[in-house]
Amino acid sequence: MSKPLRIALTKGRLEKDTVGLLEKLGFDCTAVREKGRKLILPVPDANLEVVLAKANDVITYVEHGVCDMGVVGKDTIMEMKGKFFELVDLGFGRCKFALATKKGYDFYSGYGIKTIATKYPNVSRSFFEKKGMDTEIIKIEGSVELAPLLELADGIVDIVETGTTLKENGLEVIEDVAPISARLIANTVSLKLRQKEIENLINLIEENL
Ligand code: PRP
Repeated sequence: MSKPLRIALTKGRLEKDTVGLLEKLGFDCTAVREKGRKLILPVPDANLEVVLAKANDVITYVEHGVCDMGVVGKDTIMEMKGKFFELVDLGFGRCKFALATKKGYDFYSGYGIKTIATKYPNVSRSFFEKKGMDTEIIKIEGSVELAPLLELADGIVDIVETGTTLKENGLEVIEDVAPISARLIANTVSLKLRQKEIENLINLIEENL
């Protein structure tokens, strides 16, 4: 058998959903389920080697070709861009990017430049550029909802899943920016060199989505 295809999974929920999908395809993922603190794990009957990484790093490893494939959210893909193929929308990890403000705040009124806090400056910049709107973007590392509450920003561009975090902090979505879900990506060279194996896996996945 050829050396295993290496697939980087985004640690956490996307990892669990991907393992669920691989099991649905009939592959034994015991090693991944019982991983302890190990970061590289075999799925022998699928000839896969699973690598567990942070979302941005999944893209880095795939871009550099040290992992053949990856599972990562569209949010990370949109923010990081990069050179790789986006092959399949896996359908899980669904949420959205949205512009949110304090409840009742009239974001589009007035002439002053609006300030946006976000973990995703590239996504935010391109959203407002498309509108032809000049904004000041401030990068925040987490709990972005704090920024309008502390009056640092007029609005936030952030991930909204259930909407609970916004609601419990007196914020509301005023516009959707983009839908998000998990994507299967592949290194451009791997896709050529191991086309058959990757295609077989994609076909299996698509039959089972
Ligand atoms: C994400 C996002 C929102 C929250 C949205 O944050 O940035 O804060 O989840 O989910 P909800 O609509 O279901 O409430 P995460 O939990 O990743 O933490 P962070 O903000 O510290 O990154």
